[in-house]
Amino acid sequence: MKLSSLIRFSLFGISTILFHRKKAILGTIIVTDQCNLSCKHCSVNNLTGVIHPYRQIKSEMELLYQQGIRILFFCGGETFLWKDGDKNIRDLVIEARSMGFLIVNVVTNGTFKIDLPEADLILLSLDGDKEKHNFIRDDTYDTIMGNIDSATSDNICLYMAINQINKNMIESVCKVAKKKEKIRAVSFNFHTPYPDTEDLELSSLEKEKCCKEIERMMKEGYPIFNLKSAFSHLINNTFPTPCYQCVVMENGKQSICGRCVDVPGLCEKCGYFFAAEYALIFKGNIYVILEMLKTYLRYI
Ligand SMILES: C[S@@+](CC[C@H](N)C(=O)[O-])C[C@H]1O[C@@H](n2cnc3c(N)ncnc32)[C@H](O)[C@@H]1O
Ligand code: SF4
Ligand code: SF4
Repeated sequence: MKLSSLIRFSLFGISTILFHRKKAILGTIIVTDQCNLSCKHCSVNNLTGVIHPYRQIKSEMELLYQQGIRILFFCGGETFLWKDGDKNIRDLVIEARSMGFLIVNVVTNGTFKIDLPEADLILLSLDGDKEKHNFIRDDTYDTIMGNIDSATSDNICLYMAINQINKNMIESVCKVAKKKEKIRAVSFNFHTPYPDTEDLELSSLEKEKCCKEIERMMKEGYPIFNLKSAFSHLINNTFPTPCYQCVVMENGKQSICGRCVDVPGLCEKCGYFFAAEYALIFKGNIYVILEMLKTYLRYI
């Protein structure tokens, strides 16, 4: 991350904390909910199947930029399915950068060839060793590994959603992150139990065990893009929700924090690490702030 961006984020953080502001800094645009997979834990794929047009996404980017958002995520559905005429997801990333967003990340299932050097991070979902991953995400493990190896840049960060199926797979995913040169780090989330996937939810005790495992891997030098100072809040769901510094835009509708904000009772069971980390940072939790500065400088 550039020093100028860091200073800008720090000033934003200080004014948010001092004046209890609710302005957002992180925005996510859902480019489509269409997906080539139908993962066991996912409730947001193929609900409409619509790929949103370029003009609409561009105006959503402009709106978010005007609101002061400077960290942009593109998400789906599967982001690499996004197309409009001769434009693809890479063009959206390039456009976002030229518009002035300071960090631009893309979330993908990794089943398509990866040529996205302009993104700061490509968050690529990997949900365990080959057996568990394939159980959750169809038979995609080998394709994904091939696509990581042939990626044209080293800006990949693995993204694992920990649930009842893969809760013992943390070490396995950390090892892949360390071994492969195109991968910078791994970032974890806990399963957020939408009504149709409640059986995959982890108990507080199970989350605590996972956090201990992640901490152990951190101590052993594995590259992990999470903040351990937020773990106790994630285990017990004691962070403030929703996080007002994050917004999501899907088909012209803007929601605070995540599109999940409308699901009754879900925020109290939220497993998204970003929601906890950002909410705690902007509440002024000094431990999370210091760890965030260190971690972001290391991996972005
Ligand atoms: C919805 S997917 C969209 C991007 C892309 N298709 C992918 O799989 O990475 C974004 C991330 O959300 C995760 N995810 C999906 N449902 C979840 C849930 N209920 N709780 C936590 N993470 C979830 C996925 O595993 C993935 O890492
Ligand atoms: S690949 Fe992503 S969007 Fe598609 S079903 Fe899996 S988690 Fe959901
Ligand atoms: S806090 Fe609520 S809206 Fe935000 S990510 Fe978690 S469940 Fe979604």
